[in-house]
Amino acid sequence: MPVTAVVGAQWGDEGKGRMVDYLAQDADLVIRFQGGDNAGHTVVNAHGKFALHLIPSGIFNPFTVCIIGTGAVVNPATLLEEMGALEAAGVPLENLWLSNRAHVVLPYHRMVDGLQEAARSGARIGTTGRGIGPTYSDKAARFGVRLGDLKRPDYLRQRIALHLEQKNRTLALFGAPPLDLDDVMETCLGYARALGDRIVDTLPLVQPAVRAGKRVLLEGQLGVMRDLDWGTYPYVTSSNPIVGAASAGAGLPPSAIDRVVGVVKAYSTAVGAGPFPSELDDADGERLRLVGAEYGATTGRPRRCGWYDAVAVGHAAWLNGFTSLAVTKLDVLDGMRQLKVCTGYRLADRVIDYVPDTPDMAEVTPIYETWPGWDEPTTEARDWDDLPKAARTYLHRISELAGVPIEFVSVGAERDQLLKLELPA
Ligand code: GDP
Ligand code: IMO
Ligand code: MG
Repeated sequence: MPVTAVVGAQWGDEGKGRMVDYLAQDADLVIRFQGGDNAGHTVVNAHGKFALHLIPSGIFNPFTVCIIGTGAVVNPATLLEEMGALEAAGVPLENLWLSNRAHVVLPYHRMVDGLQEAARSGARIGTTGRGIGPTYSDKAARFGVRLGDLKRPDYLRQRIALHLEQKNRTLALFGAPPLDLDDVMETCLGYARALGDRIVDTLPLVQPAVRAGKRVLLEGQLGVMRDLDWGTYPYVTSSNPIVGAASAGAGLPPSAIDRVVGVVKAYSTAVGAGPFPSELDDADGERLRLVGAEYGATTGRPRRCGWYDAVAVGHAAWLNGFTSLAVTKLDVLDGMRQLKVCTGYRLADRVIDYVPDTPDMAEVTPIYETWPGWDEPTTEARDWDDLPKAARTYLHRISELAGVPIEFVSVGAERDQLLKLELPA
């Protein structure tokens, strides 16, 4: 594989964590390249069931080095909780490293996230409330605090002082009380004591591995429809889940990435607000939510469910240049009488086959083709020929519409509930 990126091709929650856990069995290095603890990557394997937020999903392979990359934003408080849960389950964490250049999510970032959402009143984004937007805003505005700063108390104090002056003005605008420099310093020094040894310059880990042709996985968060630039802005996250950001976020040249696996759910789901053309408000949508257990791993919110949207996945395929697809949750469709696939959008009197800008996206209605479902359970399938014919036809159509071959089909949450297909030569 040498360098493989695993990215979301829809609205997030496609099963990226599940795929990275599987692929990491053969990986030397896994790097989370963007996002923060807004992610909820559920992994089910011999160690148990875990909802990972920041820790790369390769952590279960004791030989894999796992890095939280420069492009990520790290809340040390939630990271420490996550580490505690893994350690309690006997998962070794010796190979977990954090980039000294990654930005820190500080307690007031979460406060500001909540205050900003409240101020948006009718136009709420439905963020996860994890402080992601405010942290990336500070990063871009150059007021941010980086993990490496935690290890230099004098420098840290200067950075925080600069930061607090700004932040307290913002908090005052919202009528919230100011923050105290000594309190914030104490919190940060606590983080440094707990995590300091893991905070490193990650290039000395990444560079030799890539140069030596080691097997590297780049783990994305969320999906293209929530990409800051190419998603349904402003109903997006504050980083770029597309593979274009993986190079900067992980610290390797774009030309080093030779494989891009797009993870797609066999239907669509979204959490948070914004246009979602193939959303279902009927019994089929309710069934997908129930059978697919579609509740957010981070916030517990019910996910909005809908039919597979080939226009959205086509958008993702172009922007990411997928070399293959991993189709997940096929088993959730078992027993459905018929399935719909959105192949285009009607926008006023036009038919379009691309994702338009958000105000137009909010106006489109989906154009569907209908495919027969299947009754047989797929959860035990491990080869293409084990799948019902109607399931194969459905998968063929997904692949054809995306213009990308399918390499993996997941038929259950467990690590081995997966079919690996031969790619065309
Ligand atoms: P991620 O954020 O992209 O890693 O995806 P999530 O973990 O948030 O959501 C995917 C959910 O589907 C998790 O609860 C997984 O355990 C579960 N899952 C993954 N693959 C399959 C599958 O093939 N079948 C079923 N039934 N569940 C799956
Ligand atoms: P994974 O990695 C699904 C959504 C939120 C909201 C928008 C912005 O598990 O796929 P943010 O907190 O990032 O400012 O929220 O993005 N969102 C996710 N939706 N899965 C996620 O992560 C998400 N991370 C953020 O619901 O619409
Ligand atoms: Mg998720």
